Amino acid sequence: MSSQICRSAAPRAARSLLSSYSKQCSRSISGGRAAAAATAVSLRGFIPSLASFGREERTNASRAWISGVIALPAAAYMLQDQEAHAAEMERTFIAIKPDGVQRGLIAEIISRFERKGYKLVAIKVLVPSKEFAEKHYHDLKERPFFNGLCDFLSSGPVVAMVWEGEGVIKYGRKLIGATDPQKSEPGTIRGDLAVVVGRNIIHGSDGPETAKDEIGLWFKPEELVNYTSNAEKWIYGVN
Ligand code: RTP
Ligand code: MG
Repeated sequence: MSSQICRSAAPRAARSLLSSYSKQCSRSISGGRAAAAATAVSLRGFIPSLASFGREERTNASRAWISGVIALPAAAYMLQDQEAHAAEMERTFIAIKPDGVQRGLIAEIISRFERKGYKLVAIKVLVPSKEFAEKHYHDLKERPFFNGLCDFLSSGPVVAMVWEGEGVIKYGRKLIGATDPQKSEPGTIRGDLAVVVGRNIIHGSDGPETAKDEIGLWFKPEELVNYTSNAEKWIYGVN
């Protein structure tokens, strides 16, 4: 039990040390390379602080720290960069409803988000219960179509996803198009692929609060994957 805690605490502690120390170095010395070099020197003094970890973790961690003293500065710099970038990223909940799944539109819908440059951080296929569907659409419970809508959502497989990217909540809704496909613009998912409001194939969170609540309803925190996509440096950038 305690070694489990140590195993998960070690990388976190290392990341936080890297982050805070490289920040300090960046402040006191100008220029990325100089800051990175200073980081390497300063980090040596931090190896004893690993003494609080378990024996196995301490040995492994120390070996990694010593052999990594040259590689660490660059890693610290990159980690800091990635963390700063990740903090700006928002996430939204997107679901392909049973009609979209049955019509074979999963790949088409995913590709529109992927090609835009958004990053898939969670996905699963499930048949939600009626009770679950009612929770998801709780804000519509007074509407006359609520019961039918929840029956429909729970009638078959749904592909539940979390997509990440700058502005993904608002722009995701643009990709999806207006609720009623008769009013959705051509080029949008509903505009191109659906005909009536009761079978509009996809759901997307309508704001930051809803996104947070819906992600929490459909996914456990450990089902969300944090990673850096290779393409990110080609998708984001300032000239
Ligand atoms: P969603 O939540 O599914 O992404 O859709 P939305 O925000 O564009 O629209 P919302 O008002 O939240 O409605 C949720 C879903 O209810 C169905 N609906 N049927 N008049 C009707 O029969 C009617 N109006 C809405 C649609 O499936 C809509 O996506
Ligand atoms: Mg909605």
